[in-house]
Amino acid sequence: MTNIVTITFNPAIDKSTTIPLLIPEKKLHCSTPTYEPGGGGINVARAIKKLGGNAIAIYLEGGYSGKFFTDLLTNEKITNIPIHTIGLTRENLVVKELSTNKQFRFGMPGHQVSEKECINCVSALMKIHDVKYIVISGSLSPGIPKDIFIKIAAIAHLKNAKLIVDTSGDALKFAIEAGTYLIKPNLKELASLVGKDIISPNQVEKISQEIISKYHCEIVITSLGAAGAMLTTKDITLRITPPKVNVQSTVGAGDSMLAGIIHSLSNGKTITESTRYGVACGTAATMNQGTELCHLNDVEHLYDIIALENVTNQP
Ligand SMILES: Nc1ncnc2c1ncn2[C@@H]1O[C@H](COP(=O)(O)OP(=O)(O)OP(=O)(O)O)[C@@H](O)[C@H]1O
Ligand SMILES: [Mg+2]
Repeated sequence: MTNIVTITFNPAIDKSTTIPLLIPEKKLHCSTPTYEPGGGGINVARAIKKLGGNAIAIYLEGGYSGKFFTDLLTNEKITNIPIHTIGLTRENLVVKELSTNKQFRFGMPGHQVSEKECINCVSALMKIHDVKYIVISGSLSPGIPKDIFIKIAAIAHLKNAKLIVDTSGDALKFAIEAGTYLIKPNLKELASLVGKDIISPNQVEKISQEIISKYHCEIVITSLGAAGAMLTTKDITLRITPPKVNVQSTVGAGDSMLAGIIHSLSNGKTITESTRYGVACGTAATMNQGTELCHLNDVEHLYDIIALENVTNQP
């Protein structure tokens, strides 16, 4: 049984391979690729599974690649509810150049989706019983109606569930206007939410407090990459700093972090404990190659050595 549902409007198959050297014009011989199901909410559901929990993944799925996508999720024993869409599920390419150890990430655009397809996602959510956390994570495909967050926030309210959103740009703005329990922007996403190009970590508390007082949003957790995260509620601001680790790849760090926060909240932990756990998961994810998410033993080790510090009255 699970009480966490993730919704992914723009999923993708992540196809990863390696080559000795990336040279233009020549035929390049890649290694045998690996395929993983990806996209914000999908990664959150997969990371929750790695942490010992369960989440139901609702997502748009189309064409032959969509079928393959669902097979990949089923192989990982993720409870899935695919919602049919006319366009093909996109396939992203991650190429590691072995001579330099550099990773090249080619992201394909999401295809146009119809309002009807989005409504089908909302209806699928409506039918699930005992939902406590609804997670919308990742970019939105073109064509998704602006009021999608209003519809989902209404369901969250009706089901007495908490809506958690990790997205960017206009979508994040629409989400806080509709009402969320928690948002997890990174520094750039938080800056853009308040119409700025760039902000520094010491502006995060003030901006987060303004968001909390102006909108229906109880918690802002701003992730700060290697510097960890800042947790702001109306009562507290905490800075949570992970130890320095040997970083292999930061792909999926944000999704692993969000998974950790939600998994911990759903186990009845406080928001401070859950954010600390989330930072442990995010940092644990960076210790693995490519698109691999966090491992539980790394998370448990990091959790114990993460530093917490109260932040107040910042300028
Ligand atoms: N270089 C790093 N070293 C250690 N931990 C890291 C590093 N980068 C990210 N993390 C961990 O992952 C968490 C989320 O990272 P980040 O702020 O980069 O999220 P994001 O920008 O949303 O990432 P994503 O690209 O996955 O969406 C951080 O709070 C931290 O715990
Ligand atoms: Mg992110």
